Amino acid sequence: MRIRAVLSRRSFLAAAGVAACAPLAEPVPDEAVGLDALAAAKGLRFGAALQPRHFADAAYVAVVRRETGVIVGENAQKWHVIARDAAPNYAEADALAGFAAVNGLRLRGHALLWYLHVPTWWEQLGDRAAAERAMLAHLERTVSRYRGRIASWDVVNEAIEPADGRNDGLRRAVFLDRFGDGYLQRAFAAARNADPTCQLVYNDYGFEYATRWHERRRRALLDLLARFRRDGTPIDAVGLQSHLVAGQAFDAALWRRFLAEIAAMNYRIVVTELDVTDAALPADIAARDAGVADEYRRFLDATLDEPAVEAVLTWGLTDRWSWLRSPAATPQAIRRDGAAARPLPFDDALRRKPAWSAIARAFAAAPARPRA
Ligand code: XIL
Repeated sequence: MRIRAVLSRRSFLAAAGVAACAPLAEPVPDEAVGLDALAAAKGLRFGAALQPRHFADAAYVAVVRRETGVIVGENAQKWHVIARDAAPNYAEADALAGFAAVNGLRLRGHALLWYLHVPTWWEQLGDRAAAERAMLAHLERTVSRYRGRIASWDVVNEAIEPADGRNDGLRRAVFLDRFGDGYLQRAFAAARNADPTCQLVYNDYGFEYATRWHERRRRALLDLLARFRRDGTPIDAVGLQSHLVAGQAFDAALWRRFLAEIAAMNYRIVVTELDVTDAALPADIAARDAGVADEYRRFLDATLDEPAVEAVLTWGLTDRWSWLRSPAATPQAIRRDGAAARPLPFDDALRRKPAWSAIARAFAAAPARPRA
C-alpha cells in the first residue's frame, strides 16, 4: 500500500497554492503532494482514466502514484475490448486491476453497457432472447470477476438523447431498440446481484451548461432518475462525465440546483470524465492554459459545494494522450489553427499546468464531508 502524505493545514494550503497570510505571494506547491491528498483532506477523491499500455512509462507511473487515489480504464474495461471475440479476454482489464492493487489505488469500472461500442459478433446475433442473455452474461461475468476489487461500476453509459424525440428522453440505440426500456432495470439488477457491495452508477454527458440543449438533457436525466427510484432500479450514484468546453455559458446557480435535485433523490454524484476543450481559446499557450484553468475552477467550485459529490476523475492526466487530440474521436475539439489541445492538468512533459493549480485550489476551497 502506498503511504499517503499527512498534511498540516499550512502545508496543505501551500500545496494547494493558497496563500495563508501573504495574498500577493504565490506559494510554490509541494511537489510531493498530489491532487488526491488534497481531495482527501475534504473527504473527496481524485483520480483519472488510464490505459495499461502507458504503464511501461516510469515517469508517467510516478505521476499517477503521486496524484491519484482512484483510477478507471479509458477503454480497457469496455465490452468491445473484453469481448472482441465471443470468448472474453480480460488481459487489459486485469492489467488495470493489477496496477491498482500494486499501487494501492481504488478502481472504478467503465463501462458495462455503452451503445456506441458493442462487440460486432454480438450485434450480429439475430435472436433477441439470445442477445439479451449474452449481454447479461457479459455483465454478470465481468462484475463477478472484479467483485470486491472494483468499488464503483458504470453499468450503463449514455442512455439519454432527448433529441431522438421519444417522450421518455431515451436514446434510440441498440439496447433500447432490441430490448425496450426494461433492459435498464435488468442490467442494474444483474450487476447488484453479481456484487451487492459495489457502487452502481448511471453515467452520461452533456448537462453542464446554460443552453437549451443541456437543459433538455438535464430534464431527461432527472426524469430517468425519478423513474429508477419509482421502479426500484438499484442505482447508487450518477456519473457526470463533464467534458467541459471553454467559452460555453455556465450558470453556477443553475448547476448547483441540478446537483441538489439529484442528491435529493438519494443518489451520490461522481464527476467521471472531466476535461476541457480549448478549441475556442487563444493560441497563445499561457492564455489558453489560463482559460482552461478558469473553466476547471468555476465548474469545480460550484460542483464541490454539493455534499453528495464524492469524487472527481479527469479523462486522462496528460495532454499528450488525451482523446481530445484525436480528430476521429473528437472532431469538435480539434483547433482550426492546428495547435494540439491542452485539456488536462499535466502537459506533454508531465509538468503540472495551471489546470492542476485550479483543481488543487478548488479542493482547498471545498467544504469537508465524510469520505465515502
Ligand atoms: C473514449 C476514449 O477516450 C477513446 O480512447 C475511445 O476511442 C472512445 O472512447 N465518454 C465515455 C468514454 O464514456 O468512454 C469515452 O472514451 C469518452 C466519452
